[in-house]
Amino acid sequence: MKIIVGITGGIAAYKAPELVRLLKKAGHEVRCAATEHALQFVTRVTLETVSQHPLYCDLFASGGTEHISLKDWGDLLMVAPATANIIGKVANGIADDALSTLLLAFSHKPVVMAPAMNCEMWTHPAVQRNIETLKSWGIRIVGPAEGELACGVNGMGRMAEPQQIADAICQGERSKMKGERWLVTAGPTYERIDSVRFIGNYSSGKMGFALAQALVDAGAEVELVIGPTALNVSTYQHIHVHRVESAREMYAAATELFPQCNGAILSAAVADYRPAECADHKLKKNNSEGMHLDLVQNPDILATLGGMKTSEQTLVGFALETDNEEANAQRKLEKKNLDYIVLNSLRDKGAGFGVDTNKVTILSRDGHRTESPLLSKREIAQLIIQTTT
Ligand code: CTP
Repeated sequence: MKIIVGITGGIAAYKAPELVRLLKKAGHEVRCAATEHALQFVTRVTLETVSQHPLYCDLFASGGTEHISLKDWGDLLMVAPATANIIGKVANGIADDALSTLLLAFSHKPVVMAPAMNCEMWTHPAVQRNIETLKSWGIRIVGPAEGELACGVNGMGRMAEPQQIADAICQGERSKMKGERWLVTAGPTYERIDSVRFIGNYSSGKMGFALAQALVDAGAEVELVIGPTALNVSTYQHIHVHRVESAREMYAAATELFPQCNGAILSAAVADYRPAECADHKLKKNNSEGMHLDLVQNPDILATLGGMKTSEQTLVGFALETDNEEANAQRKLEKKNLDYIVLNSLRDKGAGFGVDTNKVTILSRDGHRTESPLLSKREIAQLIIQTTT
């Protein structure tokens, strides 16, 4: 998910970088927006470093429309800490700085607020009335908690702990596929020729990893079987990584995991063939003759899972076609007993291997067809999950 963390001017702002770190660790992309007062408590450099994006703080810094582009970018806006001031502004439709303007622009998307203030301010009828107004509009309120406050007294008003806020965001969004376990294959396979060479392909694993993240965002646990790739996939909660090298290793892992899964999405670029023999030493060149490699066919993981599939399980495959694209993809869907097939476009600029964008057509067993525009792989993954689960 793409989350904007808005920070306002309360002492609890010093906890905002920890919240950003937790959200990123859970696999979300995070950008920060802050009020000028927030920057009295936490620095721009800290927020830009933890989020790895420029901070949004000045309404007019890049032409005065950044609140709209940021609104288009974000899936959810989290304000932590939320002072009595920002709560009052939103409840009354006031937009007089970068964050309050962004909050008004976010009226059709999910907003979560974590209030933090002195206990007497929190119980003021104006604040309580404003909170009720925000709730009536569907804005979720997390906390505040009771405890020691910065002013030295004990009472209600402490911001909820960053972990509690992060969990609240994830639980709210992670409901659709709660309790489900999905298998995803991703990346290339390497087929060894000798001890130093292999046959491989350009797949980066980005599409498969985006699918795993979208499944986690929807509440599922993911078994990610991934071929050799430079992607850092190990640090995400709810994604269980199984690293493999060859098609046969991927086959072994996928067929073992599939029976425990509600469904599988096979996005890996599996080598159809492997060298018949793999030398255990480096092959020397032979100057006089060319080199011949005998290749034998690898097992078809997708077709095997199609044969194993129960009526309760969903199976989604990918297809890369150059001629008669949709007819061939439809044939593949039926032959391999799939529920959906995602047709990758090779004709469109910006789609396919290595790049961060893609364009697909999703065909279903019962004849439905969904065509996407050119989107980021993350958005394509969300579309695939929405359509197939
Ligand atoms: N696939 C697989 N195991 C293989 C080959 C492919 O699981 N040994 C899966 C891919 O992960 C993808 C789908 O099959 O989901 C489509 O692969 P593709 O190469 O387009 O099709 P093939 O079945 O190999 O058919 P062809 O090469 O004849 O088009």
